[in-house]
Amino acid sequence: MTEQSAASSLHYLTPAQQARIARLDDTDPHNVNKKLSFRPTDVYVSQERFNLEINKLFRGRPVPITVSGALPHPKSHVVIRDYKVPVLLTRDAQGVVRAFVNVCTHRAVELCQAREVSGGSLITCPYHAWSFGLDGALVALPRAEVFPGLDKSKLGLIELESAEAGGLIWVNLDHKAKADFSLIKGTLADELSAIALPEQKLWKHARFELNSNWKLTHDAFLENYHIARLHSNSLGRMFTDRTTVCEQIGPHICHMSGRVGFKAGERSTFEAFREFGVFCYTLLPGAIIITSQDYISVMLLSPQATDRTVINYYLLVDKLPETEAETAHYERSLKLMLRITTEEDFWAAELGTIGAATGAVQQMVLGGMEQEIFRFHEIIEAELNK
Ligand code: FES
Ligand SMILES: [Fe+2]
Repeated sequence: MTEQSAASSLHYLTPAQQARIARLDDTDPHNVNKKLSFRPTDVYVSQERFNLEINKLFRGRPVPITVSGALPHPKSHVVIRDYKVPVLLTRDAQGVVRAFVNVCTHRAVELCQAREVSGGSLITCPYHAWSFGLDGALVALPRAEVFPGLDKSKLGLIELESAEAGGLIWVNLDHKAKADFSLIKGTLADELSAIALPEQKLWKHARFELNSNWKLTHDAFLENYHIARLHSNSLGRMFTDRTTVCEQIGPHICHMSGRVGFKAGERSTFEAFREFGVFCYTLLPGAIIITSQDYISVMLLSPQATDRTVINYYLLVDKLPETEAETAHYERSLKLMLRITTEEDFWAAELGTIGAATGAVQQMVLGGMEQEIFRFHEIIEAELNK
């Protein structure tokens, strides 16, 4: 790589990200935060609370439902089915993403069945072959003469508000409500762009159905207290108990930590930081983004019930592997991530769901290394009370 191309592939961090890095320290356990707080456990169990969370956090506001890398090419579409409202995502010839309720306007059946990205400019209903364009317009229907006076222009697909920002595709799943998309633009999108998320290529996607409350999965990725313990045979050796830095970006959280070998100091580029440091973003609602040395993990959570959550996991890379050695390298990364998540973090979230349901332990005890959980739950409460 020439000096110039090396410089142009660098991603400069935002001033806020750089300031957080400058606050990360590399000293040992005696410096970790000391604080005690408590949170109730019934928030994982209550059906009333769950309904409120769905209505106020997952409807009428932008929800990240997939990564940009899952719909990378113009003139393509894909169906997302994990959010109760079936969604058809399209990317038009100009690259603009749109979202629609995936229901045919003829007899209201689910329209498109493309679970994998599909190309082409038309989406045709399997029932009677009404065809829609990528902009949702009803383009053609067989035997149009048997529908006298039908106004095709009024029978386009029902559009959902959407935006592509920071490498994620965000959709307001309530077609009747207006959402505030400023929550995901500006600072947040700038930070996600600074860690190269919009340019990432999707290398692998995996889908999980967990027997857990969605917030317990978030909790598992918000604190470092468990890393040397729950992950003692996997990630544990890469981290020590150190002070982390946590900041809010609107209703979202950026939580940062240094790996073993991290040296305190300033870093101006993502490339200089990711070798020994981790960005972990918890986005409201339902997204977790974790940076590793040469890949980024995105987990999108869709609550199904108080004790059930679907998680779509995406492993994103700067450049898709081309050689056997590169492929083998990413296969090992994937195997490690899947082990850490499914056998460890997701498992802990399921154990928490079983425990909370008993009602026997009515509050969680949060120590200095778990205060990010306290903050996350405070944000949720503030959003639910709006
Ligand atoms: S229900 Fe779609 S074409 Fe008839
Ligand atoms: Fe973990």
